[in-house]
Amino acid sequence: DNSITLTRLMNYDSQSRKVTMRIKMQISRPVFTAEEYPTVKEFYKKILDNNKRWVEESLELDPNYFEDLAKGQTPPLLWIGCSDSRVPANEIIGAKPGEVFVHRNIANMVIHSDMNMLSVLDYAVNVLKVKHVLVCGHYGCGGVKAAMSNDSIGIIDNWIRHIKDVYRLHNHYLDSILDETERFNKFVELNVKEQVFDLAKTSIVQSAWKKGQDLTLHGWVYGLNSGFVTDLDV
Ligand code: CO
Repeated sequence: DNSITLTRLMNYDSQSRKVTMRIKMQISRPVFTAEEYPTVKEFYKKILDNNKRWVEESLELDPNYFEDLAKGQTPPLLWIGCSDSRVPANEIIGAKPGEVFVHRNIANMVIHSDMNMLSVLDYAVNVLKVKHVLVCGHYGCGGVKAAMSNDSIGIIDNWIRHIKDVYRLHNHYLDSILDETERFNKFVELNVKEQVFDLAKTSIVQSAWKKGQDLTLHGWVYGLNSGFVTDLDV
C-alpha cells in the first residue's frame, strides 16, 4: 500500500528536504483570521486556493496519493471527539487521511439514542473492523463548562442535559472540589470516563466482544495549552 509506505518514509527519513519543506509549509499556512481575510469573498477564495495548493503538495510527494486513497479505507481507529476547532483528531495523533475514522459532537458524547453516533460506531466496528475506539475529551471544553452552569443557551441545552447527568452522578465528589478550575478539569475527565462506559454498554460493542472481536476502548483528555493527551486508563 503506497500511502502507508509514504507515511513511514516521511517519519523515517526526517532529514529529507521535501519533508522539512512540507512541515514548514503546514506551520506557516495562514490562519483564517478576520484581519487577514476581511471579506467573505476573500476568505472563500482563500480556502479554495488552499485546497488547490494541498492537492499540488500531496501529488508532489506521491503522484498516486489520491488514486490510492480512493481504493478504500482500513483505519485501525475510531475517534469520538469534541467538535471544538482546537481539537483536530488527525493532527493530534499524527494520522494521515485514511488512518482514522472520526465522529465529533459537542463534548464528545456517546448517547444511546443518537443515530448519528450509532451509525458511525456500527460501521466502524462491523464493517471497517477497527481495533480501537477512542473517546477524546479536552480541558476547557465549552460544552462541559456550560453543563456546570444554569444558563440557557438555546437548543444546545437539550444536548447539555446528558452532560448534566454525568455531574449528577458524581455531584458529591465534584461539589467537594472547592477550586473551580480543578472541579471543571475533573468534570471533563469524569465525562470522558462515563462516555467510555456508555460506549462499552452499546449493543454494538457488546456483540463485538461476544463474538471475540479484537476491540479496545480508550478514554483520553487533550490539553489545549500543552498539546499532550492524558490516557485516563478507563
Ligand atoms: Co469541547
